[in-house]
Amino acid sequence: MQDNNSFTNIRSLLGALAKAMNLINPDMEHHHEQTAYLAYQVARECGLDEEALHLTIYAALLHDVGAVVSEKKQSVLEIEEDAANVAITGARMLRDLKQFEEIADVIEICQNSYVKNQKLAETKGGSKENAAKAYLYIEIASAIHLADVVSLMLREDEPVLNQVKRICSAIECGHGTEFSPTMVDAFLRVSKREFIWLDVLNNPAFLMFFAGEMHPVTLQQTVELTGFMSRIIDFRSPFTAMHSAGVAASAKKLAELAGMSEEECLMMEIAGNLHDIGKLRVPRAILEKPGKLDEEEFNVVKEHTYYTRLILMDVEGFGKIADWAGFHHEKLNGRGYPFHFDASMLDLGSRIMAVADIFSAITEERPYRKGMDKENALKVLHENIESGGISGEIVELLEAHYEEVDAARDARSREAGKRYFASLEQEV
Ligand SMILES: [Fe+2]
Ligand SMILES: [Fe+2]
Repeated sequence: MQDNNSFTNIRSLLGALAKAMNLINPDMEHHHEQTAYLAYQVARECGLDEEALHLTIYAALLHDVGAVVSEKKQSVLEIEEDAANVAITGARMLRDLKQFEEIADVIEICQNSYVKNQKLAETKGGSKENAAKAYLYIEIASAIHLADVVSLMLREDEPVLNQVKRICSAIECGHGTEFSPTMVDAFLRVSKREFIWLDVLNNPAFLMFFAGEMHPVTLQQTVELTGFMSRIIDFRSPFTAMHSAGVAASAKKLAELAGMSEEECLMMEIAGNLHDIGKLRVPRAILEKPGKLDEEEFNVVKEHTYYTRLILMDVEGFGKIADWAGFHHEKLNGRGYPFHFDASMLDLGSRIMAVADIFSAITEERPYRKGMDKENALKVLHENIESGGISGEIVELLEAHYEEVDAARDARSREAGKRYFASLEQEV
């Protein structure tokens, strides 16, 4: 396997993450893309170089990532009220990944006023090179802060161009205090171009297609980046805190045992990491409901694999991964959801994913119950074979290597659990 080759690209992955964040609340629809689009246009107007522009887009797309895991806040307005904490939580999560360190640096300060950031930089001091970098980050953070505010000021009930005057005068009030003077001036110039406002409203994701270089990502890096994304999905609730990690580990192991190629095994791990990304759409009250869901609640749950597939389909190089992740609730007898595909449409990867999902769900520890032991877990899996839902061959494979698969699942689940509790302790 040549892992030096690019498998996908950062822009594509972060675009998917931004879309997933939009699922959490309809209020948030397009907020991250709008913020990224505007911040990019303003930063570009200032003449920032390509590298800085990418940093602007990525940090803007992820500026609210901390809100995904925080306990109560859901609506955009509530998130903004708690903006400083959201920014700090988000930055801490992103620092887990080497590739995201710069993004974390920017997000950490992007909710502060320009004046506050300047003071912070002055007290820090450091080398000339560091000072230049700090100054650049302050400018980028200010572009994002400004774009964030503008996105929140936009109203749906008024033609967009009729709102420009109101928005510009509000932003001008923050010239040199709340926002960097350079960025405010650039924004005022940009605001004269009508298409910018029409893009913000209609097609902020359009930016994804014209913003220069792609930043290639190898398969191995994609495994790491999606591992990070899986924590965003899982850490919303203690009920799911270890689930995606366990599914990824068991899906990969089963893929190896089934003789899939090394590359495909890593792709299965990625699919496992992201298989429940559409669950960001499901309210926490339903995720955490003790006891059986009623029909209406279950209808909401049924949406999640549709959104998983919808989000992953657009990621470059993810065609197969989108299927494997998106079909994990399909059944061989066609009675699954939401596509009702049957055995003729479900390939090896999809069959493994369905088994890995059930296996992990029943064997992992949850706050209200212990995980099932081998005997009971196999009993449940066999019931699912008998009803025509899942593949007998895959379960046979699991049975023959039970301890090995279970150990892989357990190790990854435990690691995720540790991270989850660490993240709670640091809660600000
Ligand atoms: Fe699921
Ligand atoms: Fe799942």
